[in-house]
Amino acid sequence: SAYDLLKDFAGDLKVGVAANTNRFNNGNYNNAMKAFNMMVAENGCKLSGIQQQKGVYNFNDCDAHYNKAKELGMEFRGHCLIWHAYQPSWFENADSNTLKNAIVDHITKTLQHYEGKIKAWDVVNEAVDDSSNGQGFMLRNSFLRQKVPNFIDIAFETARKVSPNTKLFYNDYNAEGHLPKSESIYNFVADLKKRNIPIDGVGLQYHVSSQSQPTFNQINGLIGRYCKLGLEVHITELDVKLQGNQSRQTEAFSNALKACLANSCCKAFLVWGVGDSDSWLGGNEQALLFNNNYQPKPIYNTLLDIL
Ligand code: XIL
Repeated sequence: SAYDLLKDFAGDLKVGVAANTNRFNNGNYNNAMKAFNMMVAENGCKLSGIQQQKGVYNFNDCDAHYNKAKELGMEFRGHCLIWHAYQPSWFENADSNTLKNAIVDHITKTLQHYEGKIKAWDVVNEAVDDSSNGQGFMLRNSFLRQKVPNFIDIAFETARKVSPNTKLFYNDYNAEGHLPKSESIYNFVADLKKRNIPIDGVGLQYHVSSQSQPTFNQINGLIGRYCKLGLEVHITELDVKLQGNQSRQTEAFSNALKACLANSCCKAFLVWGVGDSDSWLGGNEQALLFNNNYQPKPIYNTLLDIL
């Protein structure tokens, strides 16, 4: 390669990227992925990717991501088992009992399919309500919560029972320490631990921007508190909207990596896409590490220097 690879300087930290099979036919995209040693599927391993039709499990796209990761020597991270957003209509419209059974069945069949292959899965995604103000926590009033009030406990307990060695994560956004919601997410996770719900880690999505981002002390302190709870932390979906402010974007990426490196329980650092134009935010936000030609941007070298 014409440039140094992040993975060669990361030591024990996994440096990862969200990939999408719809780009695998692009040679430059494949080459850029070699900077990383962990992959997550942007969409292919979600319930919408695996079980578009009720009870018809199709692992083709998730498998294709997994196989590409193995081909490139990358570890694979599972995302995500239970989520309220972007779900097939059969799942959203199921009655309570059907939905409860579907939650158990989806987790069971998916974890069994990847047994011994995927070490960590996001079991529940985005269950804390956006209006949570840092005092205690409020759960999102989603169809999941309305129809199966204890779906979170069921999800984690099922996952632990089916696959005792898989690391079970809770993953959420606005969880990075600069907004009141992140304190509620902490309270929610601490409550899971206190109630002995089987959880091993927390995923901080880290969709931030030049304008709205944690300081180093905020993110470092927060990760440290999760470590004290006995949990592993992954930065799972990092992207930073540029908003015309290069120094603030650099700060956001740098603080995330520095805080992860400063806390021994932070074991993975993943960005949510390869090139800027692959981003779910659209290419205009210039939120990722590679440009549209899959060449590393200056921010890539900044992170390399930190490692
Ligand atoms: C996004 C994908 O990037 C999009 O392609 C898809 O249309 C919707 O989901 N939080 C998550 C991710 O946990 O799964 C989301 O990914 C981004 C926000």
